[in-house]
Amino acid sequence: MAISRDLLRVRGLEKTFSSGSDSKTVLKDISFDLAYNDSLAVVGPSGCGKTTLLLMVAGLLPPTEGAIWLEGDEIKGPSKKIALVLQHYGLLPWKTVGANITLGAKLQNIGISGKELQETKKELGIEALDHLYPAQLSGGQRQRVALGRAILLRPSLLLLDEPFAAIDTITRERLQSGLLAVFKRRRFSFIVVTHSFEEAVFMGRKILVLDNRAGIRTVLNNPDAGDIAFRSSPEFFERSLELRRVLEDLP
Ligand SMILES: Nc1ncnc2c1ncn2[C@@H]1O[C@H](COP(=O)(O)OP(=O)(O)OP(=O)(O)O)[C@@H](O)[C@H]1O
Ligand SMILES: [Mg+2]
Repeated sequence: MAISRDLLRVRGLEKTFSSGSDSKTVLKDISFDLAYNDSLAVVGPSGCGKTTLLLMVAGLLPPTEGAIWLEGDEIKGPSKKIALVLQHYGLLPWKTVGANITLGAKLQNIGISGKELQETKKELGIEALDHLYPAQLSGGQRQRVALGRAILLRPSLLLLDEPFAAIDTITRERLQSGLLAVFKRRRFSFIVVTHSFEEAVFMGRKILVLDNRAGIRTVLNNPDAGDIAFRSSPEFFERSLELRRVLEDLP
């Protein structure tokens, strides 16, 4: 396999779910690249295959056709280089926040310094929650702990499935900024699936729009993403509007 400067390379991806004589092609002919230290937002109507795409990139679901390469190696199963944060957090209810956040790294024998742990907690605003159990947290706090746990795995690629859904706007914007602060300090790329135009425009340096016909509708270039000042600029509102129009126009 040729070495590429892209971290991730997706080519001709297709996923068909079959049960008995029924089959449904959810994604077809999906191709895109993601560079190192870059970000991609994935948007599209409910049921168009966003989570399916993330699961395939995570190596948890095999494609029906096509292939995905990470740093030149074909993805055929889960990899330590990829961390996935699903919508439903996946925290262990019988462990405290302090234990939950370091659990993944411990399982993978990744040494984390006290400084790194403190910095990560601070960036995500969860430094005071160590002694609590997941049931004692709000949805937003649980999401942050799940995010912290994934970041401490030091992945090359972080996959986020609607990470900030069901969180109020102000907290959501703080979390987006917190994630971007971590992103700037460490070298990783991320793919974020979202239903929010603003989140896509704020976070994705490329925005992949999927439609209900199993394909990519368009890819928007959004090079200003990730810059805090961008959020309050006229360009930000223009691009959000552009994205809204594309989505409203989908079949
Ligand atoms: N294991 C499966 N078996 C059969 N069909 C599936 C399976 N997983 C997903 N699907 C179907 O594939 C389609 C895409 O599902 P997916 O969860 O990827 O959508 P999504 O874009 O993430 O939607 P949402 O925005 O609601 O989260 C849906 O029609 C779903 O019912
Ligand atoms: Mg989904």
